[in-house]
Formats: sequence, C-alpha cells, structure tokens
Amino acid sequence: TRGGIDFAVADLSLAPAGRTQIRLAEHEMPGLMATRREYAAAQPLRGARIAGSLHMTVQTAVLIETLVALGAQVRWVSCNIFSTQDEASAAVVVGPTGTVDAPAGTPVYAWKGETLDEYWWCTDQLFQFTGPDGQPTGPNMIVDDGGDATLLIHKGAEFETHGAVPQPAAGDDPEYQIILQTLAASLARDPQRFTRIAAAVRGVTEETTNGVKRLYKLADDGSLLFPAINVNDSVTKSKFDNTYGIRHSLLDGLNRATDVMLAGKLAVVCGYGDVGKGAAEALRGQGARVAVTEIDPICALQAAMHGLPVVHLDDVIDTADIVITATGNKGIITAAQLNRLKHNAIVGNVGHFDNEIDMAGLAKLPGITKTEIKPQVHEWTRADGRSIIVLSEGRLLNLGNATGHPSFVMSNSFTNQTIAQIELFTKPDAYERQVYRLPKHLDEKVAALHLDALGVRLTELSKEQAEYIGVDVAGPYKPDHYRY
Ligand code: NAI
Repeated sequence: TRGGIDFAVADLSLAPAGRTQIRLAEHEMPGLMATRREYAAAQPLRGARIAGSLHMTVQTAVLIETLVALGAQVRWVSCNIFSTQDEASAAVVVGPTGTVDAPAGTPVYAWKGETLDEYWWCTDQLFQFTGPDGQPTGPNMIVDDGGDATLLIHKGAEFETHGAVPQPAAGDDPEYQIILQTLAASLARDPQRFTRIAAAVRGVTEETTNGVKRLYKLADDGSLLFPAINVNDSVTKSKFDNTYGIRHSLLDGLNRATDVMLAGKLAVVCGYGDVGKGAAEALRGQGARVAVTEIDPICALQAAMHGLPVVHLDDVIDTADIVITATGNKGIITAAQLNRLKHNAIVGNVGHFDNEIDMAGLAKLPGITKTEIKPQVHEWTRADGRSIIVLSEGRLLNLGNATGHPSFVMSNSFTNQTIAQIELFTKPDAYERQVYRLPKHLDEKVAALHLDALGVRLTELSKEQAEYIGVDVAGPYKPDHYRY
C-alpha cells in the first residue's frame, strides 16, 4: 500500500513510461474517449465497484481510467500470466495525477510472468474493495475476459452453500487444484464471502469467446448468479478485435519472439473462426503458404473460398514450419504431433486458454529438454536432437510475446465494454440472470465513433430509400440476424 492504494505490480517507477504510452493510446482510441466525454458530467458509474480481470495492457489502462472518469471505483488484475505490460500497470496505480511516491490511481494486481499460484492470489485480491467508511466490501460489477473472475465467484458461492471446498483429486488439472486451494483459504477466512459478492453483483460484461461460452453454459444450467452482457458478440467486437486485432498482433508476437522470415513457409492455422481468419490473412500477407484446419463445414468452406487448403493437421504436421492454434477448444496439437514437427518448427497459440497445445504431454516426451531462448520463447529439444520453438508456453502468444492488439481496434471493444457496464449498472431491474447482447443501435454507434479518425465519409440514406429497404434513416440498418 502506498498513498492509500494497495497494489502488486512489477515496478512502480515504470509509471512515467506507461503514462506516455497511455497518452498516445488515448489518441488512437477515439470511441472510448468520446464515450468518456459523453458521460463525464452524468457520472453513470458513480457507486459502481468494478472488479476487472482483463489483460493489463496500455489499452486496458485507458479503459480503466474511462470507468473511473465515469464515477466507478475500480480494481484490476490481468486474465493471463504473461499479458501484463508492467509500465501500464504501474501507470494505472499511479494514476494521471499521482506520482510514484504518492500514487493516486487504481489498485492493480498484475505483473508479466506471474506463476499460476500468484495469478489466482491476484484474482482473489480483486474482490477486496473498501467502502467509503473504510470497511471492507466487495464488487458490484465485473469486467471479465475469459471468465476467471466469474468462475471464482460461482465456484466460491457453490462451495459456500455446501459448507466445504472439495479436496483436489489426483487427476485434477493442476490449475483447478490451485483454484480449490484459493477457495478453501477464502472459505476458512469468511464462509459467506462469495455468496455476498454474488448477491451484490449487478452483472458481468464478458470480453471473449471462451468466457462467453462459459456464461451460456451457466445460464443454460440455470446456475448463472447475475446478468451478463456478451460483449464479444457485438459486431464491433468480434468482427474487428478478434479478426483485425490478431491480424496485427499475431505477426507482432511471431516477429518479436523469433524474427523468422514467414515468406514461403508452410503455416497451419487451426480454427478458421473470427481469430483464425485474421491469423490466416496476416500469414498469407507475409507470403507464407497457409493451410487451415476446421471442424465446421461452413468455416471450412469459407477457407476454401479464400483459396486456402483445408487439411488434417496430421497430414501436414511433418512439413509445417509454423502451427498456430485459434480454436478456443482443447487438445488441438497432441504431444505425438509435437514430436513429429520438423527441426525448429514454431508452435504458438492465440486461443484464450493454454490447453490447445498439449504442453504437459510435450514435457513428458522421453529425453526432451527445454532451453529458454528468452522469456516466453523456449526451445524444446527432443531425444534425437531436433528442436521445436514454443511461444509463451502455449498461452496467448500475441499478448505473451508482444503487446496484444493495437489501440484503435481495442477502442471498439472497450467502448462496447463501457456501454455494457453503464447498461447493467444503471438498469439493474431490466436484466434477468441471462446472457444478453447490446442492441444493434449501440453497435452501430460504436462503429460510428471510429469513422472520423479514418476519414470515412458515410452516405446518408434518403427518407425514400430508408422506406424502400424498411429501415429508419437513423438506423439500425440491419436486422439482428444479419451476419456481416
Ligand atoms: P470462433 O468460434 O469464431 O472460432 C473458433 C473456430 O475453431 C471455429 O470456427 C471452430 O469451428 C473451430 N474449431 C473448434 N474445434 C476445432 C478443432 N478441433 N480443430 C479445428 N478447428 C476447430 O472463435 P474466435 O472468436 O475465433 O476465438 C477463438 C479463440 O481465440 C477463443 O479462445 C477466443 O477467446 C480467443 N481470442 C483470442 C484473442 C487474442 O487476442 N489472442 C482475441 C479474441 C479471441
């Protein structure tokens, strides 16, 4: 704690460097800054205590400071052990008006290169708000990316209802064992903590595909404890951030990690959804020979129509130079396949979780050794002397090896986040314990806020034209089922 703000970051003295980057990012985030200006006077988030679990980057710093500018009290953690930009977390703690000696910003618990134990400890700290009377209290809003904050609250409340946290079983995923330990410690300290938090939370706004999948599952089971807005499926989020964001940050990650020339190489992209499409386009733009794998006939046909061979991973694994997973699914590259990759082939993941590549199986290959080339770049040498290069230990390489998506595209995502937070916080009675999307007119508004910066001149419908196609002159211009 310093200046009354509790935090855990790598190095607070990085704050001035972070502040410079935030200043540049603000210019590249016109939608988010316009939203900040639009609601500054009304302070719609006054009284909101927002717990945010989302990659602690420079762009996220601009989101955090927007939420604060609209009246919210905020605490933040990263949603990935490698994705924090240490200068951004320091700058957020110090705040726009504070100094390194007297921070005046927002509590952040995040640094690049957390262990999994540290990660879940940070996530646990996320909920420790202090009320105006100085008494401990909890959040009443959640911003989530991948659903880990939501998961901790749901599991915590579930175990509190049962009165005990189950013992970790031998076969449990090691990360789940850490979650159970975190919750057992919490329950021992305060047996009703997560039950209270769940009751107080007005809603969660979820950033990514995998987190949204978790939310729909909870809603279908009838076990979702508060309303949720699926930010990912705003058109101005998934059709922009997931696709054009990765088109930028995948190459950034590959280049910073390996600097290998991509032209002429065989690059396999597993999954041709929103992220996979951006990944494939980026690699093809570099002159790589790109092949994709898919399980969905529609996406497979889309890839074929783009001139991309759709293959079985097993058929190309011996010749691939680069394999990128982007499925949001598990078990995409097996240990046996990793073993077959040729010398110095590069393997990386841009899906949300680290279970797309069988890293545990790789570590168990007979005679395998691991050499750190630099942080988040590892050479795994197999018994016969051939190596493969694995990026960010199988976690999101565009955030682990680079700095994630650029500001402009994140402005679209985070304008949706801010609008969704205002919506759930100010209209607590309008939403059930279900998953909602923002209405189309707000999606169109988010896009509109980004046109001027690009010199876009939008054509206006005439009244007659609007009537002819059955829309209002002011929009929305498409029905909800339109797919863009
Ligand atoms: P999506 O659902 O649009 O695409 C995933 C695709 O993978 C689907 O087309 C699906 O049919 C395919 N797939 C599923 N199992 C497969 C398998 N076994 N083999 C081959 N293909 C398979 O999802 P989206 O939005 O593209 O997201 C993908 C992942 O990326 C998610 O985990 C999401 O959370 C994450 N994400 C990562 C970002 C980043 O910055 N790295 C940004 C946005 C999303």
